[in-house]
Amino acid sequence: MTSTSVIVRRMQPTDIDAALALTRPQNWNQIVTDWERFLGLEPEGCFVAVLDGRVVATTTTERFGPVGWIGMVTTDPQHRGLGIGRRLMHAAISHLRGAGARTVKLDATPMGKPLYERLGFRPEYSLQRVVGQGRPLEADGVSPYRGETDLLEEILAIDRAAYGTNRGEMLRRLAEGWPEVAAVHRTSGQVDGFVLGRHGHFYEHLAPLVALNAQAAEGLLRWGITAAGHRKVAFDHPLPNQAAAAVAVRYGFEPAREFTRMHLGQEPYLDRPGFIFGTSGAEKG
Ligand SMILES: CC(C)(COP(=O)(O)OP(=O)(O)OC[C@H]1O[C@@H](n2cnc3c(N)ncnc32)[C@H](O)[C@@H]1OP(=O)(O)O)[C@@H](O)C(=O)NCCC(=O)NCCS
Repeated sequence: MTSTSVIVRRMQPTDIDAALALTRPQNWNQIVTDWERFLGLEPEGCFVAVLDGRVVATTTTERFGPVGWIGMVTTDPQHRGLGIGRRLMHAAISHLRGAGARTVKLDATPMGKPLYERLGFRPEYSLQRVVGQGRPLEADGVSPYRGETDLLEEILAIDRAAYGTNRGEMLRRLAEGWPEVAAVHRTSGQVDGFVLGRHGHFYEHLAPLVALNAQAAEGLLRWGITAAGHRKVAFDHPLPNQAAAAVAVRYGFEPAREFTRMHLGQEPYLDRPGFIFGTSGAEKG
């Protein structure tokens, strides 16, 4: 079998079950609503590879102004090493470039990194996924976000300070997914951080968690840990953000996996990891 007998086409909502069947054995945390959000945000930019009528590989894209993001890159273990991942990456990169992205970014697993390096991606920094336990805690200075337009503007300003680009539509959709963990932190009345959690298969994801200082991040984390009830909770923090690592240890989080943030392009749109306590997840930064 060669990769030429494989068809690469746009992903459809009817492919979601097959995509979940591919990713679940790898312990990826995404659920149906995540795939629906990927397709909702970028219906022309999510791809599958099909062999004999069966989905054997996936990838998704998202666009944040000049930055394109690639996620959910996986090939069925039986069909690896045939060039399928490379073909899907080409489809995703050319979609993003055609849509105006000047930089393409992703969070690579150790298995994905060699593929991305061959395609010219360069590393920015490492991230660590940490997993902990939901439980009741007090959270000072935190209040819920309920879709208020003014508050969304403040959330977006903090996010832009961290990511250098507008991720508004993705953040707005995330806030609807788990409203109990859509919250802001205020210090002396000023919004200085936010968290927009989401449900997952294995654990609740307490991020994006973006804050201008460690105290705000800690309050937001306590809020999320509490909202999770007795479920497991997780987030990915940039290793250069030592305050994020310290807060994870303080609340008993254990390291689970590592990623490398990478970019392809002339203008890297580098993040400010000091403000990023929890990324939005490997599949969307
Ligand atoms: C990473 C993954 C998607 C690669 O898919 P694939 O279909 O096997 O990749 P390809 O066959 O297209 O490989 C493309 C190139 O990358 C290289 N490559 C891919 N995975 C590699 C690895 N783990 N180590 C070294 N090289 C690798 C191939 O040798 C090939 O190089 P070449 O084109 O110069 O010959 C697949 O291994 C996978 O699904 N892994 C588990 C999920 C995962 O971690 N995904 C990455 C998420 S960021």
